[in-house]
Amino acid sequence: MTEQFKFHMPTQILFGRGLVKHLADYIPGEKVLIVSDPFLYKNGVAQAIGDGMTGKKVAYFSDIEPNPSCESVDAAAAVAREHSADCVVGIGGGSSMDVAKIVSCLVTNPGSIYDYYSGGTKKLCPRTTGLICIPTTAGTGSEVTNVGVFTNRSTHVKLPMVNNEFWPDIAAIDPDLTVTLPPAVTASTGMDAFCHAIEAYWNKESLPLCDMLAMGAMKLILKNVKKAYDNPQDMEARSAMSKASLIAGVAFSQTRTTGIHATSFPLTAEFGASHGIACSITLPAFMRISGELEQEKMQELASYLGYSCLEDFADGVEQLMGSMKMPLRLHELGVKEEDIPHIAEVALSAQIIQLTPAVMNMETVERLLRSIL
Ligand SMILES: [Fe+2]
Repeated sequence: MTEQFKFHMPTQILFGRGLVKHLADYIPGEKVLIVSDPFLYKNGVAQAIGDGMTGKKVAYFSDIEPNPSCESVDAAAAVAREHSADCVVGIGGGSSMDVAKIVSCLVTNPGSIYDYYSGGTKKLCPRTTGLICIPTTAGTGSEVTNVGVFTNRSTHVKLPMVNNEFWPDIAAIDPDLTVTLPPAVTASTGMDAFCHAIEAYWNKESLPLCDMLAMGAMKLILKNVKKAYDNPQDMEARSAMSKASLIAGVAFSQTRTTGIHATSFPLTAEFGASHGIACSITLPAFMRISGELEQEKMQELASYLGYSCLEDFADGVEQLMGSMKMPLRLHELGVKEEDIPHIAEVALSAQIIQLTPAVMNMETVERLLRSIL
C-alpha cells in the first residue's frame, strides 16, 4: 500500500535572538492585548515587547496563573473585548500562550470559555483577531500547536481543548528570553520538550516528517539541556534548546501526545506538580514499555541517539534527569499507593493515552505507576 500522510502547519515561524522587540510590522490592526503572568509583567519583559510595537495601542493582562483556569480566561477575554483588540499576544511558558489562543477567539465569540470548552454547546466561529505566541521557556511548544489546556477551578479537572482557530498566526521564538530561567525550570521545561518529541515519534499516529523532526529535537535536547542547566548564560545551548522545543512542538502538533501527557494531567491538577515535572517523571517508565509495540523503531531511535538498546536509553534519560535534580519517583510529588487507581483512571479518561505504543488499561497503567512509586 502506498504510504499516505497529511501535515498541516499554518503558523508562520520567526526565530532569532532579539527579534521580539521588533514585532510591530507583523501585528494586524492597531490595538494589541498582551497576555502574560504577573512575573513577566513586573520584571519588564512584557512591557519591553509591548514598547517595541511602535504605533500600536497596547493593553496588558498579566494575571495568568500556572495551569490557567477558565475564570482567568474569561477575565482576560473581558479586557480584550473592552480594548477591542485587533491582535492578542501571549507571552510565557505555556499558560499565557494557551490563554491568548482562546481569548483571541472570544473577542468576537460571545459568552464564556465554558460555552465552548468540555461540555459546552457552542462552536467557535472563525477567529478574526490576530494571534501571536512568544515562548519564554524552551519546552511547551504551545506556540506551534492548536491546543490549549485549561483547568476547571471548581472540579480541578485539567483538560486540553483542541481547535483549528488556535493555530497562532505567528510564533516568535527568541532564545534571549530564556536566559533568566532558573536551572530547575530549564530542566523541567527541557524534558517536557523531550517528552513531546518522543511521544510524537512513538505515537500510533506518527508521520515520517514528524519522526525526523522528533529525532533531531531529541538529539539537540540530550546534547544541550544539561549545558543550559549548568550554565544559564550559555547562549549556544539556550538557542539549541529553543530550537529543539520548537521542532518538538511542530512534531507533536501533528500527532498529539500519548500516555506521558495523559498521566501528567492528574499529577498537575491534584498533586501540584509543574507540567514539565508531571510529564518527565513517567518518561523513563513509558520508555521501558514502548518496545511492546514499537521494538524496532525504538531500537533505531536508541542507536541514533548513541545508546546500545532501549533499556540503556531509558537509563540514560533517567540519569540525565537525576543529574538535574529532577524527581524520579511519584512519592516525591506526594503520591501514595492508594492514589494510584485514581491517577490511572483519570489518565485513562484522556483519549491520547491510547496513542501510546503499549496496551493501556487499568492494570497496565497501575503497574507502570507502581514501578515508579
Ligand atoms: Fe507538554
